[in-house]
Amino acid sequence: MANRLAIDGGIPVITERIPGGAHGPSVIDDREIHAVTEVLRSGKLFRFVENSHVATFEKEAAALLGVNHALMVNSGTSALICALTGLGIGPGDEVIVPGYTFIATAAAVVGVGAVPVIAEIDESLGMDPADVARKITPYTKAILPVHMQGVPCRLDELIALARQHNLKVVEDCCQCVGGQYKGAYAGTWGDVGAWSLNYYKVISCGEGGLVFTNDYDAYERTAFASDPAMPMWMSGKEWKNPPFSRQCYRPSEIMGAIARVQLSKIGDILSHTRRLKKAFLAELDEPKGYIRQHVDDPDGECGISAAIIIKEPGLARKYTEALRAEGLGAGTAYNDGFPDRHIYYYWDSILLKHSPHPSGYPWKDPQYKGNVEYSREMCPQTLSILGRALRFGFNVNMQEEHARLMAAAINKVDAVLG
Ligand SMILES: Cc1ncc(COP(=O)(O)O)c(C=O)c1O
Repeated sequence: MANRLAIDGGIPVITERIPGGAHGPSVIDDREIHAVTEVLRSGKLFRFVENSHVATFEKEAAALLGVNHALMVNSGTSALICALTGLGIGPGDEVIVPGYTFIATAAAVVGVGAVPVIAEIDESLGMDPADVARKITPYTKAILPVHMQGVPCRLDELIALARQHNLKVVEDCCQCVGGQYKGAYAGTWGDVGAWSLNYYKVISCGEGGLVFTNDYDAYERTAFASDPAMPMWMSGKEWKNPPFSRQCYRPSEIMGAIARVQLSKIGDILSHTRRLKKAFLAELDEPKGYIRQHVDDPDGECGISAAIIIKEPGLARKYTEALRAEGLGAGTAYNDGFPDRHIYYYWDSILLKHSPHPSGYPWKDPQYKGNVEYSREMCPQTLSILGRALRFGFNVNMQEEHARLMAAAINKVDAVLG
């Protein structure tokens, strides 16, 4: 019987391993190797050189994104720290972050001396605008929506909410490099956007990040935030804002050279992953036992992931086991097995308010008048959704047939268990 589940002795849908691999690193070829070799041969590894690769990457990325200013830094976390500093966020301020993101998002808030406030996610797997509205206090200065796994969150509603309350918006696009939302790039809807170029991202130079904005003052301040010596390296420049000192998040020319080549490949990478996701969705039957992740703009998202949310928590485990038997790796994001550290539940240093300093800042900073409290159970909706959400990835090493097989495995399991 074709529809007998493999877990019950039937024939598995997927009999050969579905290819894996990181996006950007999978397409590294002679062009990146040549670019790095050239930098090494030139001996000019510092970013403030003539015809700098970093500066050119910034110009090329800004042109792609359609923004006035972009600044390369050494990681996505640095990009978030510089973005927040650029917008004047610091001690005494609260910044709302979603309960589902890499801990770096919340850590960046602590990094500027501000207090992270954790909000629920909804079926978009991004910030729930209704909960964000509930979490706004007189101390809230900004919201930090995150576009997880290439899918922009509910930006329309979140931007409207922020404008209504006079809040700044920093978009964490670390997992959504090149993703679009209703005709404009993710990261260009808020005040400042941030990319990560680390190993796992859509494009990669090993480690790296980008801050981008149309706001000149914010840009200039991100530049000071990224390098305390910036006014010295660029001494001839007329600065509009008074320079200040922060840490050093400067990238090297090697990173810039790789990033430029990778940026030229972003169109090919994303058209491939978008084709895979389209093939997957076209094959997927109407769901019985699950709902699909809500995606505001299916055409703009990166196509690097798909998620299904099983209706009942008990069923989620059964789906997981049945899908694995069909040959499709699956697991809920929140479970009692390997912890997914993208869930606030595992952010011990934040939940336990572990300060980088004996003063206990940012929570015990005398300037902070709020009283944020954290607990493991503080976002039950987030834990409920992630305890039922199964996520599947698409990467450049896969072919459409792999995506169709993944959907076929889900269809088969859903037909029996749903
Ligand atoms: C959503 C999100 N934000 C921020 C970061 C931090 O980026 P990086 O590792 O480049 O510092 C990551 C990295 O994985 C991320 O996934």
